[in-house]
Amino acid sequence: MRNYKIGIIKGDGIGPEIVEEAIKVLDAVASKEGFNLEYNEYLLGGAAVDVFDNPCPDETIKGSLNSDAVLFGAIGGPKWESLPKEKRPESGLLKLRKSLGLFANIRPAIIFDELVNASSLKPEVIKGVDLTVVRELTGGIYFGEPRYKDDNKAYNTMIYTRDEIARIAKIAFEEAMKRKKKVTSVDKANVLEVSELWREVVEEVAKNYPEVELEHMYVDNAAMQLVRDPKQFDVILTGNIFGDILSDEASMIVGSIGLLPSASIGGKVGLFEPIHGSAPDIAGQGIANPIATILSAAMMLDFLNETSAAERIRNAIKEVLKEGYRTKDIAAFDAKEVVTTSEMGSLIADHAAN
Ligand code: NAI
Ligand code: MG
Repeated sequence: MRNYKIGIIKGDGIGPEIVEEAIKVLDAVASKEGFNLEYNEYLLGGAAVDVFDNPCPDETIKGSLNSDAVLFGAIGGPKWESLPKEKRPESGLLKLRKSLGLFANIRPAIIFDELVNASSLKPEVIKGVDLTVVRELTGGIYFGEPRYKDDNKAYNTMIYTRDEIARIAKIAFEEAMKRKKKVTSVDKANVLEVSELWREVVEEVAKNYPEVELEHMYVDNAAMQLVRDPKQFDVILTGNIFGDILSDEASMIVGSIGLLPSASIGGKVGLFEPIHGSAPDIAGQGIANPIATILSAAMMLDFLNETSAAERIRNAIKEVLKEGYRTKDIAAFDAKEVVTTSEMGSLIADHAAN
């Protein structure tokens, strides 16, 4: 039997509630599809600070590296906000991503027909949107040296090397091969030398993927096109800072933050997590939407090449939404019945097992 070691990091706030539901769904598809998932739980963020006085203990890094994939909830909360920066939950997550060598962040914006009214854009603009942002995560201006600030002057440095561009481009083209075979590479090549190199290297990588259509777009235009006509996109490939901004913009096409998954890949082990945070304002109330985490678990199964199980999960979510079940955050959109976090998880697990 196929066996996978899954690192489980529940985190803080609603993290434990939503990860529990994803595990429920994973168990349902594993038994149906005939593979085994072996879970090992690790602490990160505030939960780790409380026990180890360290937001990213060595055991969490070692355990994650020793897993086939890691499913993660969310970290952070007011309880730990006043701690020095290196002890804060957010530092723990950055350290974990870095230790796992995760240089690519993949964020699909998935529209559910049942929830087209949840978006602030018109239903006819967003219906049928199926795009994903591939963002470079460990380079660019956020990490470039030198960086400096005094009272009168401050600067940061945007650097990308040929190798860094090539490896993220390759991931974008691989994604496109599994999708609609189109890559839109987003840069600012009319102004930035870094973007000139970016274009050159992306063109080179594209030669290995003759089936994939490549277009280049300036970032300012891309920001506009995303809200004007998001259906034109398949894979958006971009660097760290542009990707940070565009992926948040793209996520809002969908409407509710509780619906959006992400994958961080590039190392041996992938990290799969919802895009939202730990939502301390609703933690412990049983109203958090577990769908973003359950979709992250589906992305994890794709990563493990269990694509039929992943599809099973996505179909189960669609069916449950079609039947009119909604968590509180999406209750305004054609709800037949408003359900708790755990009820939503069970409904999806039941459908996925059928
Ligand atoms: P947030 O994403 O936790 O919450 C924003 C709003 O969305 C809140 O009103 C929340 O109740 C709602 N929300 C989020 N997820 C939801 C879900 N699954 N179902 C229903 N409603 C949901 O962002 P916020 O409030 O800015 O940050 C809270 C904490 O989370 C902070 O400590 C922040 O640093 C941390 N954070 C952690 C992230 C991570 O672990 N990757 C990412 C973003 C923030
Ligand atoms: Mg951001």
